[in-house]
Amino acid sequence: MEEPTTETEIKTADVTTTLTPPPPTASPHQELVERLKDYGQEDVFALWEELSPEERHLLVTEIENLDLPRIDRIIRCSLNSQGLPAAAIEAPPESCVSTVEERRKEDKEKWWKMGLKAIYEGKLGVVLLSGGQGTRLGSSDPKGCYNIGLPSGKSLFQIQAERILCVQRLAAQAMSEAGPTRPVAIQWYIMTSPFTHEPTQKFFESHKYFGLEADQVTFFQQGTLPCITKDGKFIMETPFSLAKAPDGNGGVYAALKYSGLLEDMASRGIKYVDCYGVDNVLVRVADPTFLGYFIDKGAASAAKVVRKAYPQEKVGVFVRRGKGGPLTVVEYTELDESMASETNQQTGRLKFCWSNVCLHMFTLDFLNQVANGLEKDSIYHVAEKKIPSINGSIEGVKLEQFIFDCFPYAPSTALFEVLREEEFAPVKNANGSSFDTPESAKLLVLRLHTRWVIAAGGFLTHSVPLYATGVEVSPLCSYAGENLEAICRGRTFHAPCEISL
Ligand code: UD1
Repeated sequence: MEEPTTETEIKTADVTTTLTPPPPTASPHQELVERLKDYGQEDVFALWEELSPEERHLLVTEIENLDLPRIDRIIRCSLNSQGLPAAAIEAPPESCVSTVEERRKEDKEKWWKMGLKAIYEGKLGVVLLSGGQGTRLGSSDPKGCYNIGLPSGKSLFQIQAERILCVQRLAAQAMSEAGPTRPVAIQWYIMTSPFTHEPTQKFFESHKYFGLEADQVTFFQQGTLPCITKDGKFIMETPFSLAKAPDGNGGVYAALKYSGLLEDMASRGIKYVDCYGVDNVLVRVADPTFLGYFIDKGAASAAKVVRKAYPQEKVGVFVRRGKGGPLTVVEYTELDESMASETNQQTGRLKFCWSNVCLHMFTLDFLNQVANGLEKDSIYHVAEKKIPSINGSIEGVKLEQFIFDCFPYAPSTALFEVLREEEFAPVKNANGSSFDTPESAKLLVLRLHTRWVIAAGGFLTHSVPLYATGVEVSPLCSYAGENLEAICRGRTFHAPCEISL
């Protein structure tokens, strides 16, 4: 290898001319090896001698682009926190939960109006967590592109976009009583991962943003982290690239911060942020009632919850960590079986019964604080997984943050119970599995919408049993069953079909 030419040598050769030294030719890999040694990761160059010039370039570029001090801190803090005794968990106090039972009609009306007003004033931003692929569904496309088989054939993205369009219209209508109104545009921030970014953007472009304005939709990418061995060493997927994985849906906090979107929200006057997972077909995106409740309550964070259906249901549950400690979620993978089936002796109900449906509301101020708090503590969940490597598929670790890791940082968290039959139809597993499939979610939608149509004075005919069919109401007609009389009263619909404008 050529030795670097130094400034001294140049002067000796030609003392009369002041020459600037040529660019350093020291192998970037040598410099990087020295840096990597500080973090015990120099083995990533173990196969350097066998690499082609292009492969060497790819490896050097990848390592240069890593924020090594940050990654090292995350690895150390996460591995060190493992196995430490966690404070015991308790059920959240009743006072934290607004239950459906105790909710009065006038509260609901008040919150609905408060929410619509705030939306009209541009105070709500919506963040969609869409970094996951539909792997469990047997699809490598972004989950939001999935068509669950409703009569309309709409994708999850389209259903959600149309709910936003509907809320915008309702907000403008609600304010028109006080005088002329202008159109409302809710800002929709869509988090993708390197695996879903391009296909998601293309899907929206090819569907003309489902009727939304292109400039109200912003795509941003969550980060990735190297996969590691149990003792914290980077795993190589090929001789010239690291095995990497998205940093979990809690990566949204860092991603919002580093992409400058928290400032973007502030500059637009957004004060409240609704944040939800893509895979619930009944999700009420930008729900005015939930927003009104949140504003009324004055909390920093809130979450919608449903009652857990059965002990083994694969949902996270809200708990309180330690006596009088903060609310947080314990994921289904982390709650042992005996605790999951423990009952409250007085009520006979499950002790840990408030299920997380992955729909949260935050103040923008809190989002700013939590992004910094999580970054400082750098504790990620350690998930032991099979990782593809140069030695085949090996046992390794993925480091992830979860969206609900924010709650321990919140000065106050409010839980808002909703009815599962109205708001929770998860799409997780391929048809043929025993739960949370596109088929089960489709039937939940058809059942709910059929009830709306009948309540609005419509009739149904069907040639298959009603439990296996029903009608679908386009979100462009109704957000939560309202305003359907004009379309449905006295009309007969043959199921399955979509009722649209
Ligand atoms: C999630 C919740 C669980 C809840 C359940 C309800 C988390 C960590 N867990 O579980 O408590 O009871 O939903 O259905 O939130 N995602 C990303 N980036 C990632 C990983 C996931 O954006 O790196 C998105 C997915 O696209 C999806 C959402 O986060 O929209 C939920 O992720 P998923 O991994 O499917 O969580 P669940 O196990 O279903």
